[in-house]
Amino acid sequence: MKIDVISIFPEYLSPLKLSLLGKAQNAGLVDISVHDLRAQTNDNHNTVDDTPYGGGAGMVMLPEVWGKTIDSVVTDGADIIILTPAGKRFNQKMAESFSSSKQMIFACGRYEGIDDRVRQYYSQPEFQSRNIRVHEVSIGDYVLGGGEVASMVMIEAITRLIPGVLGNPESLAEESHNSEGYLEYPNFTKPQEWRGISVPEILLSGNHAAIAKWRTQQAGQRAKDNL
Ligand code: ADE
Repeated sequence: MKIDVISIFPEYLSPLKLSLLGKAQNAGLVDISVHDLRAQTNDNHNTVDDTPYGGGAGMVMLPEVWGKTIDSVVTDGADIIILTPAGKRFNQKMAESFSSSKQMIFACGRYEGIDDRVRQYYSQPEFQSRNIRVHEVSIGDYVLGGGEVASMVMIEAITRLIPGVLGNPESLAEESHNSEGYLEYPNFTKPQEWRGISVPEILLSGNHAAIAKWRTQQAGQRAKDNL
């Protein structure tokens, strides 16, 4: 999967080189490039925003600088993600559907947003016929300072579903057995007793059927408690 992240703070995305994702890049499973939006400006101040038509607080990001940057990276089949608190809520199902994408382009705007014509432009029939899709996505009901962290959340959730990225594919198989795909039972390891708290007896029983039943019940209780 080719991943292009566009931001005015490219250094903000440096964690993408670490851990599982760093390994996945070295193994050639994902290819991540971070692009500085300001590289496509041509005024002395490297302007990327201006005041909103119709008035109101804050600034809106200029369409042309976004258009030039997206044009320079977009290929057939791309999914263009515009990160915004007003977007469709990201979830595990969405992560699964994006995990087979050829190219993901993440447009990290500041929260006042990107001129809406960028979304409109890349949604036109000429892009649709190239299987290029625009998605406005939110990672949750809160407002971040910009889309950078949101894009990293999405990239981490999506790329770990690409075959070969996860060291232990059994973790994935186990997750997908679960109805929600990510609601888990509590886990324990050594020592058997820690600071006066013991591991639940049933986990030491060797009774796999009983353990599976207990775990399902615990996961269900957790899901209920978190509502
Ligand atoms: N930008 C600002 N807040 C955001 C959110 N909750 N999700 C995605 N992008 C954002």
